[in-house]
Amino acid sequence: MSNRAVAYVSTAVAGLTPTDLDHLLVDARAHNQMAGVTGVLLYDGHRFFQYFEGPAEGMERIYERIKNSRMHVQLHELHNGPVDHLYFSHWHMGCRLTEGSILQKISTQQWLHEVELLQDDVAQDAASPALRELLAFWEQPH
Ligand SMILES: Cc1cc2nc3c(=O)[nH]c(=O)nc-3n(C[C@H](O)[C@H](O)[C@H](O)COP(=O)(O)O)c2cc1C
Repeated sequence: MSNRAVAYVSTAVAGLTPTDLDHLLVDARAHNQMAGVTGVLLYDGHRFFQYFEGPAEGMERIYERIKNSRMHVQLHELHNGPVDHLYFSHWHMGCRLTEGSILQKISTQQWLHEVELLQDDVAQDAASPALRELLAFWEQPH
């Protein structure tokens, strides 16, 4: 079955508490596991960036849940397309609190070129600049 990946940024609703975020993640991880979806979520206290990947059918279901969530607004899609490689296959939804500058840097990369780049070469070190930026951040010690 073909795999897809989506990246987006959104703005958290005012008053979102750490407890809300915990509940959101518990809920998200349970649903992602059932759908075979993996990925990562970055949060700077104001904005979210999420990259998630998996089988097309599960992705559609999870993306609907995300779009319908009342916990954020102004969802702006950065990337949505087929992928040959799952980069976060061990994370049903990893989450890191980040500085705003890091979230900004990752979200302003050229995500839309992902599909074309991945069609040329599926090796991890040939991932797009945007994905490389995300992987570099994710793999550094915290
Ligand atoms: C930034 C963000 C990321 C989310 N990621 C996922 C996800 O990966 N999988 C999922 O099933 N739901 C995801 N959700 C949906 C939440 O799990 C859901 O919003 C939460 O359980 C509360 O539901 P409600 O907003 O409908 O009240 C996400 C929601 C937000 C705001």
